[in-house]
Amino acid sequence: MAYDITLIPGDGIGPEVISATVDIIEAVGVDINWDKVEAGANTIETEGTPLPDYVINSIKKNKIALKGPLTTPIGQGFRSVNVSLRKKLDLFANIRPVKSFNGIPSLHKDVDLIIVRENTEDLYAGVERMIDENRAESIKIITKKASERICRYAFQMARDLNRKKVTLVHKANIMKLSDGLFLESGRKIAKDYPDIEFEEVIVDAMSMKLVQFPQDYDVIVAPNLYGDILSDLAAGLIGGLGLAPSANIGEEIALFEPVHGSALDISNKNIANPISAILSGVLMLKHIGQFDAAVKIERALSVVLKDEANRTMDLGGKQGTKEFAEKVIEKVS
Ligand code: NAI
Repeated sequence: MAYDITLIPGDGIGPEVISATVDIIEAVGVDINWDKVEAGANTIETEGTPLPDYVINSIKKNKIALKGPLTTPIGQGFRSVNVSLRKKLDLFANIRPVKSFNGIPSLHKDVDLIIVRENTEDLYAGVERMIDENRAESIKIITKKASERICRYAFQMARDLNRKKVTLVHKANIMKLSDGLFLESGRKIAKDYPDIEFEEVIVDAMSMKLVQFPQDYDVIVAPNLYGDILSDLAAGLIGGLGLAPSANIGEEIALFEPVHGSALDISNKNIANPISAILSGVLMLKHIGQFDAAVKIERALSVVLKDEANRTMDLGGKQGTKEFAEKVIEKVS
């Protein structure tokens, strides 16, 4: 049976890393009809919007999407398409596994944690206004419903994956109401999971502890903004953004994308590391039940990465994006 899956190549390094991922998934033999659609700055000229309706309709129809990064203009211009997609499709859970690769130069070894980030609200909703020309205001909305939903997701995932501990990150000592509500929600849900250890850590302390002792953490649940920042930090512990995949999960729809952005500084040079995108593809394959294919790709990546000469520039090697994908394809086909 062929799967129908929406494919958004993205911009910057997006098309390069997504093309590497699609080639590898095809080589491993999973039959997919890719419904390729464009979004972002590319479609502003042609469609007059960075998020045309046909993108949303395709994802709603197929229920699964693989996406490359999309550039968001800083300080002006259109709002983030990435954030709009998560909100419009109610992809409430952003799952970011961070796992050490054997042999890759990194600050730490034996890191194996999963960040579960609330994906629909917090300061990230971008509800902002100028009060007057000298004062700006951003509104942070945290709801009980979204907080309980993401905390339950984190605990249930911990139980399903046989993980031992959930660490909730907050700043409720200062934001007593908004972060306080998130924390209260976590405490409430924790009572339904007595088999999972529950721990609360303030976000500044968490940043330090993650840098010093990342092996102490298992599943981390956080509101949107802290989750965003901590997951880039965690990626840095194991070798960088080029290695970190993510899944955006809703009740019915799931969208998979690398954690990194469009990296315009290295785009169109065939030097981007495609592993983050490939591992996002691996998460997608597991989600649709293609476990053998997923494990085959994971093993191939490990084998290819053992040889320093096979690595991309960010990992100290000289291999191009395409050539790296070809090495992985040799191992999976
Ligand atoms: P970025 O992740 O694009 O780049 C940060 C640094 O990491 C750069 O030096 C870049 O060269 C490097 N890097 C990133 N991915 C890499 C890879 N696969 N291989 C090798 N090096 C890699 O973050 P930045 O510069 O803050 O954002 C650029 C644009 O991407 C912005 O417009 C931002 O809004 C957007 N973005 C989009 C995301 C998405 O589509 N989900 C996520 C994050 C950022």
